[in-house]
Amino acid sequence: MKILVTGGAGFIGSHTCVVLLESGHEVTVIDNLCNSTAVALERVQELAGKPLRFIEGDVRDRNALDRAFAGGIDAVIHFAALKAVGESCGQPLRYFDNNIGGTISLMQAMEAHSANCLVFSSSATVYGQPDNVPVREDAPLRVTNPYGRTKLVMEQLIRDWCIARSEVSAVLLRYFNPVGAHPSGRIGEDPHGEPNNLMPYIAQVAAGRREYLRVFGNDYPTPDGTGVRDYLHVMDLAEAHAMALQYAAARSGCEVFNLGTGHGYSVLEMVAAFERASGRKVPFEVRSRRLGDIAELTADPSRARDLLGWVARNNLDAMCGDAWRWQKGISP
Ligand code: NAD
Ligand code: UFG
Repeated sequence: MKILVTGGAGFIGSHTCVVLLESGHEVTVIDNLCNSTAVALERVQELAGKPLRFIEGDVRDRNALDRAFAGGIDAVIHFAALKAVGESCGQPLRYFDNNIGGTISLMQAMEAHSANCLVFSSSATVYGQPDNVPVREDAPLRVTNPYGRTKLVMEQLIRDWCIARSEVSAVLLRYFNPVGAHPSGRIGEDPHGEPNNLMPYIAQVAAGRREYLRVFGNDYPTPDGTGVRDYLHVMDLAEAHAMALQYAAARSGCEVFNLGTGHGYSVLEMVAAFERASGRKVPFEVRSRRLGDIAELTADPSRARDLLGWVARNNLDAMCGDAWRWQKGISP
């Protein structure tokens, strides 16, 4: 297939592009590089041994989108979005404009170019604080911050579009906590400034770029008192996108899938696993709970297994080992 990948230079997008190229798809990326660099795309092509087409542009810019669609596109994977929860609380309008505005503009361009197949990056954030874990796709949706709201609204817009246009097919993928890197260590996650997320923070402490990890709370109702999440390897996530594309291309309508392993690990278990993988100490200090955090969030991924045939294959040691290989390569 000819596939347009929005946000393809980013963390999850770059790994997905490798898998798509290796599966024989033709790939066009549109990215405005607001949270990435073109170096990732050079490395994607090096890893896959195949070229891709890159349009540097914004998904809200119709001219840039028209250039991306020129030559024909069969399906779109839409990663492009701003994703920092804290930042979204301070700048909600920027998030609404970029994420929701970008998605509307993309759907308009898809309609104009008769591209009817969409795979969308959603997030477990749409469950807010669920009543039960592991959480299933039919759990109530309730968001707790503007970033989460953009994901929920985008899901709803895409659903409405599918209802109105019977030829359109969409798959909404709700990711839990993507971590790790390509096993080569050539592409990975390198957040600007202080990392918001646990794994890149731990990796930077192990590499000596930061002194210690702050553990946000050890008084949660979990086995060791620290927060529990469902971490999944970014390469497993990338493969899920290739499978979701095949699924969407074969039907119409809108489907939603959780993507996680179904197993939770605590912050302290993550620290111990990273120490094993890196052979380095990860010093930490316990601090108070982070505002808006929940005790435990894990996926019930059985729908993705049953309908997409997808299961996560990489374990925690692989997630930490690959993240460490990447981190070593980018640390001075
Ligand atoms: P990322 O920031 O590394 O990648 C996003 C890419 O989109 C970046 O390259 C950025 O430059 C680009 N972009 C942003 N706005 C754009 C715009 N208007 N036009 C063109 N390009 C634009 O983030 P990621 O971790 O790879 O996340 C990808 C998607 O997955 C996002 O939609 C994110 O919300 C979602 N998601 C991520 C996580 C996670 O923990 N990483 C969890 C759940 C969902
Ligand atoms: N944590 C720390 N110290 C840190 C960072 C995180 O102790 O420096 C803890 C958190 O309190 C939490 C766990 O590590 O218990 C995981 O935190 P992350 O920030 O890595 O992940 P979250 O589950 O809080 O949030 C992430 C994304 C959200 C997304 C959600 C579900 O940041 O955007 O996963 O996909 F909505």
